[in-house]
Amino acid sequence: MVRLSPFEFILFMGLILISAPGTRAWSKEGHIMTCRIAQSLLESEAAHAVENLLPDYANGDLSALCVWPDQVRHWYRYRWTSSLHFIDTPDEACTFEFSRDCHDSHGVKDMCIVGAIQNFTSQLLHYREGTSDRRHNMTEALLFLSHFLGDVHQPMHVGFTSDEGGNTVWDREIILTALKDYYDKDLELLLNDIVANFTDGIWYADVSSWKDCNNLHTCPNKYATESINIACKWGYKGVKAGETLADDYFNSRMPIVMKRIAQGGVRLAMILNRIFGDSDEGLATAT
Ligand SMILES: *[C@@H]1O[C@H](CO)[C@@H](O)[C@H](O)[C@H]1NC(C)=O
Ligand SMILES: *[C@@H]1O[C@H](CO)[C@@H](O)[C@H](O)[C@H]1NC(C)=O
Ligand SMILES: *[C@@H]1O[C@H](CO)[C@@H](O)[C@H](O)[C@H]1NC(C)=O
Ligand SMILES: [Zn+2]
Repeated sequence: MVRLSPFEFILFMGLILISAPGTRAWSKEGHIMTCRIAQSLLESEAAHAVENLLPDYANGDLSALCVWPDQVRHWYRYRWTSSLHFIDTPDEACTFEFSRDCHDSHGVKDMCIVGAIQNFTSQLLHYREGTSDRRHNMTEALLFLSHFLGDVHQPMHVGFTSDEGGNTVWDREIILTALKDYYDKDLELLLNDIVANFTDGIWYADVSSWKDCNNLHTCPNKYATESINIACKWGYKGVKAGETLADDYFNSRMPIVMKRIAQGGVRLAMILNRIFGDSDEGLATAT
């Protein structure tokens, strides 16, 4: 395929220390695709539970509300959620350690993407116990879990502490450039291509390993580790502050972004199927 326009974004790697962490957000498109993929893979119990939990105005479409956590993160009432969208790991360490890295900027434990996924997984596991548990808003738990499964797969959301610059390229520019150049700006066409690549294409053989998870509580650590490894290998490597990213940056990174969207969707479905499913598997392994 021939690209129509050059890919050119100047990277201020490591220079924008003071920009708010709030600038980090997997594009709306990324979250929508992750949630569309997940919802299409739900078994009947989970599909019913999700339908039940969604507000009426979502018309049964989970993806319509998967960006909601990004919309409310700066509202006073939801300010506590703002640190849940990312993980800062020590510069150049290229590893994720829950006890070292999963906290907010004040050092409050568990306040990072992985802690959030664990939190909302545990909350949703009470859904099957019936309506007596009113401590938690199950609708919000579903929306947060669905959103953060997307975020944990965005490699630069598990990044170096001093970097804010690589994010917008990975969050938005790669997806939007792909849409514009290859898919006629049609999200549906891109989504179909991603789905085709894991149902029958280049990722087909890998899908069962994506779903491997012995313990719903600890598996998100694995997803975060994958992300920081990709961020190190493909995000930061070979690029310098102030450098213009060109076509070869785009061409080599786009397949990674698409695969992470697919993995996020497949794994969100796996988690929801186990949380809401018939077996005791989810309950037994999440605590
Ligand atoms: C878990 O969710 C509750 C609200 O339901 C919130 O008060 C708490 O801070 C959350 N913790 C994490 C780690 O997400
Ligand atoms: C749960 O959260 C949703 C979304 O914020 C809200 O619309 C709904 O009223 C809440 N439900 C309860 C019982 O508080
Ligand atoms: C799907 O796989 C083909 C190779 O078979 C590749 O050219 C295309 O870019 C992939 N699409 C996505 C969205 O990953
Ligand atoms: Zn987010």
